[in-house]
Amino acid sequence: MRKVGIIGGSGKLGRHLIGHCLERGYDVTVVCRPESVGKLADLADRITVVPGRTDDRAAVARALAGCDGVLTVLVPFGVHDYASGTAQAVLDHAEPGARLVFSCGWHITRGDGDRYTRRFRAMVRVMTVVARAVRFADIDDQVRACDRVFASDTAWTVVRGSDLAEGPSEGLPVWARHVGDPLLASNLTMRTDYALFMVAALTDDTLVHEAPAIVGRGTASAREHAATDPT
Ligand SMILES: NC(=O)c1ccc[n+]([C@@H]2O[C@H](COP(=O)([O-])OP(=O)(O)OC[C@H]3O[C@@H](n4cnc5c(N)ncnc54)[C@H](OP(=O)(O)O)[C@@H]3O)[C@@H](O)[C@H]2O)c1
Repeated sequence: MRKVGIIGGSGKLGRHLIGHCLERGYDVTVVCRPESVGKLADLADRITVVPGRTDDRAAVARALAGCDGVLTVLVPFGVHDYASGTAQAVLDHAEPGARLVFSCGWHITRGDGDRYTRRFRAMVRVMTVVARAVRFADIDDQVRACDRVFASDTAWTVVRGSDLAEGPSEGLPVWARHVGDPLLASNLTMRTDYALFMVAALTDDTLVHEAPAIVGRGTASAREHAATDPT
């Protein structure tokens, strides 16, 4: 891994992604919305910034030229297929063979064994309806975006995050193949560690074509179920 593109680098997760990549000595190019370029001003001499919405195909193509790895912060803002457009731009413009890592939440499923509580399903349903009604976000769009990734023949990993918190690192999160695994019960990961997992996935071939559901290494459920940790 030499050069990494970060699609959506100016948000909270994006800042952590940039930090971990720079620590590893990667050459970093970031796509972020034009109005957010100033949020990265303190890093201007260490990274290349391509202003553009993350579904701007020209901006994504420009940023991903020569990248061995791509980290995509997949968000479903608005009601105009922002997440699907972002995923498609990355799938279409990443270099052949590049490692592609996408972020999303536990609600994303490949339909192959995830188990959700009634409460979780109800919460997602309500959030989907309300967010779409006020045209704030389209959670189903993130679902469609991930379906496109799952169907692609690229070297993808979709990292499904638990609830997130800011705070000191606990180390690399642990993961399970399926939501509902007791390992995940604590449902909390430090945001910096979510980013750490995504960056580590760039060089972990065992995670190609996996959708790991992650949880903080220091959480009670992770410690209790360490024996079943597939990592
Ligand atoms: N928050 C959680 O508890 C949680 C839990 C599980 C998984 N995740 C996943 O983690 C990832 C990061 O989420 P986050 O909640 O932590 O937020 P975040 O890192 O702050 O990222 C938000 C991103 O959305 C962009 N954005 C904000 N408003 C926008 C708009 N109106 N139109 C287009 N883009 C907009 C931001 O760009 P600007 O800098 O330009 O504003 C930023 O890149 C997502 O993939 C999410 O699904 C989050």
